[in-house]
Amino acid sequence: MPPKARIVGTGHYLPPLVRTNADLAKMVDTSDDWIQERTGIRERRIAPPEICTSDMAAAAAESALKMAGLTAKDLDMIIVGTVTGDMPMPATAVFVQQKLGAVNIPSFDISAACAGFIYGLSIADNFIRAGAMKHILVIGVELLSRVIDWEDRGTCVLFGDGAGAVIVGPADSTPVERPRGILSTKIMSDGSLARSLMIPGGGSVTPASKEVIDEKLHKVKMKGQDIFKAAVKNLYSASRDAVEEAGMRPDDVDWICPHQANLRIINQAVERLGVPKEKVLVNIDKVGNTSSASIPILLDQSLRAGTIKEGQTVLMCALGAGISWGSALIRV
Ligand code: COA
Repeated sequence: MPPKARIVGTGHYLPPLVRTNADLAKMVDTSDDWIQERTGIRERRIAPPEICTSDMAAAAAESALKMAGLTAKDLDMIIVGTVTGDMPMPATAVFVQQKLGAVNIPSFDISAACAGFIYGLSIADNFIRAGAMKHILVIGVELLSRVIDWEDRGTCVLFGDGAGAVIVGPADSTPVERPRGILSTKIMSDGSLARSLMIPGGGSVTPASKEVIDEKLHKVKMKGQDIFKAAVKNLYSASRDAVEEAGMRPDDVDWICPHQANLRIINQAVERLGVPKEKVLVNIDKVGNTSSASIPILLDQSLRAGTIKEGQTVLMCALGAGISWGSALIRV
């Protein structure tokens, strides 16, 4: 099936404050060597107190709109992938809508953690494929530093803050041999691993209370090794499926733009796919794991740097809490 939708603009926002591994070694029992060797991370960005999630999302969106040559008035829908929104209610997407000045369009959040951006892209592709909409803003944004337990060395070294955005618009209508656009998307979840990565407090199971705060149930809890194994397996299978659906082989792909959770996860999944490391885009050393923001940040950086060139194919894949995962193959 020829693509109906195409990414016509990208943007990202990273807060200015840098927190290095050396900074963390002063806060918990860890070291620069351990973090680099086990994760590939050297530093991450932290949002200052006056910045909230929708501020970062709106900044990334403005940049994507500018690249697309569009304004907020051209948007038909706003989808925000986030698990660290401004408030439990309403959706962060409506704050983004208000900040951008977009009116009377559907705006909603997706809770698919690190896979949130891929979920949003898949939904946008399907709305445009159905002919229901023309321009959809898809954002991945996380302010994880506000939900991290900064005394838990098993999680606090991994995450960072940031936002990435894309504008999905119609694909070129003239038939060509190698059309640009979203070639395939895959999304999937496995709730049997739901408790491997969670913020257990503050919802209907354990509503907010003094005990929730005292026991730090409002902070991220993770069984790192469970997530690690599931990530390698499912990132591999989702990537293979997206490529096969487009009638290609993994090695035909020009670039892999994977979720930046851990360099060892990326390397193992890519090795299984049989794709050389030179084709893998990486920025985890500079930004850590920014969850749903990770892929659109890296995509935007790689497009603006000229690393990804027009006509090239890019395979994106992500897995996170849920567990939820997905992949998308595009030709830019
Ligand atoms: N600094 C130093 N030592 C640390 C540490 C840190 N920051 N974090 C954990 N350790 C210690 C552990 O306490 C353990 O010590 P022990 O052997 O004395 O008990 C040892 O290092 C090994 O811990 P382990 O959890 O087995 O390490 P690991 O190799 O699995 O690496 C993660 C831990 C978290 C980096 C890894 O499991 C991971 O990346 N998992 C996936 C996480 C993820 O991607 N989450 C987000 C989903 S998108």
